[in-house]
Amino acid sequence: MPNCAVVGAQWGDEGKGKIVDLLSERFDVVARYQGGPNAGHTVTIAGKRHALHHVPSGVFRDNVRIVIGNGTVLDLTKMLVEIDSLVAAGISLDGRFFISERAHVIVPLLSRLDALNEQVAGESGRIGTTQRGIGPTYEAKAARSGIRVADLADATALRERIQKMVDGPVGSRLREAGEDPGDPGAIAAQAHAQYRRIERWVADTALLLNDWMDEGRSILFEGAQGTLLDLDHGSYPFVTSSTTVAGGLCGGLGVSPRRVDHVIGVFKAYATRVGSGPMPTELLDGPEGLGETIRRRGREYGTTTGRPRRCGWFDGVAAAYANRINRFDGACIMLLDVLDSLDEIRVCVGYRLDGAAIRSMPPVVSDAKRIEPVFETLPGWNTDTTSARTWEELPPQARAYLDRLSALIGAEVSVVSVGPDRAQSIIRPGSSLAGRFGF
Ligand code: GDP
Ligand code: IMO
Ligand code: MG
Repeated sequence: MPNCAVVGAQWGDEGKGKIVDLLSERFDVVARYQGGPNAGHTVTIAGKRHALHHVPSGVFRDNVRIVIGNGTVLDLTKMLVEIDSLVAAGISLDGRFFISERAHVIVPLLSRLDALNEQVAGESGRIGTTQRGIGPTYEAKAARSGIRVADLADATALRERIQKMVDGPVGSRLREAGEDPGDPGAIAAQAHAQYRRIERWVADTALLLNDWMDEGRSILFEGAQGTLLDLDHGSYPFVTSSTTVAGGLCGGLGVSPRRVDHVIGVFKAYATRVGSGPMPTELLDGPEGLGETIRRRGREYGTTTGRPRRCGWFDGVAAAYANRINRFDGACIMLLDVLDSLDEIRVCVGYRLDGAAIRSMPPVVSDAKRIEPVFETLPGWNTDTTSARTWEELPPQARAYLDRLSALIGAEVSVVSVGPDRAQSIIRPGSSLAGRFGF
């Protein structure tokens, strides 16, 4: 059976959780490849809303195996709360949940350093991180001083590694700011005790995934964040610290690029961003404006931090850029219903910088902030789409809008979402997604 990647195509929160839950019906395994508790993936089934941060969004299908890959970073305190609440909701994990022994662990001093960095950066330098310790943990990984899940098994060796971290640059930066990095013995004891609770799920996940693929099982790869937050391809330095694009799944899971058969990009029907950094189509039209209308209708507040998301029009240049990096087989257009009450909808179809048209995202933020978006205006549909279940049931103006987005992205629209619930989805029968995976 073919494999498929689900990738965020904008600045995160596109609705990846909903799509992974929906598509996982046709897959044997769902595997997360990067990020950590900065992610907030929402799945709504029969009106009940679930927010996931570490656990893959295939968890609600009890015949699907779920894998947290080596490319992720895990906050075990938060992950255990998440696991406990899933178990309390009657979801069984045993025998189908696998955590990579090579994933990195966010120890408390790393999340404190994230918060401290944000505090000292000041208004203009602040990235607006989720303060979950993501950046410092990936920094420690790259500096070869990180702590991995497998390192938690030996309490004595773990204490030594944490002592090194407390004595090294991480501890120094906290101490310079007047903070106590914590007692290495206590940090190690807590992490070791948490390890004992997850031990039965810890595995060599690259070995398992490759064995399962050899047996003919199909994998759905779940991305976190989005292409425009990618460490290399996003609006650096206003990015997250991992490779969010489709290519990141190979390193983040130990899966050859030759085994990735299909790539799906998840987009909102408009744009949102949480945190700082350039957003060319942002609506800055005040409390009575369209930006606020979209925020209210789309409930655009972060799943992880509750922060209001910045809202704007669909950015066709950024979308084509995302398609260039990921080469989507198809796009999912989410939250279409949020635009139901608008008379007119604008779409960005070009960028101008210093009077010249540009096709790509400028690498320097000060340039990206000066981009002048070129807009096209399309008619709205002024109709409730939330009960549409087929392409034909969508109003003609909505179909025309989706066709325009498809042309701007450069990929077919495979899925349209008209509400948060699993049922409020349209998988287009003629799409390559439907053909390949039997929807
Ligand atoms: P993710 O991080 O990409 O998984 O996205 P989030 O879960 O952070 O944010 C997407 C939000 O939109 C969640 O609150 C979803 O429940 C909601 N959502 C997803 N699809 C739709 C849709 O088609 N319509 C509406 N109104 N809400 C949706
Ligand atoms: P999901 O998976 C939206 C943003 C933060 C900040 C930047 C860096 O739910 O789509 P970090 O804590 O990662 O160092 O923050 O990235 N960010 C997200 N924005 N959705 C996410 O995840 C995000 N994860 C991080 O707001 O701007
Ligand atoms: Mg989210």
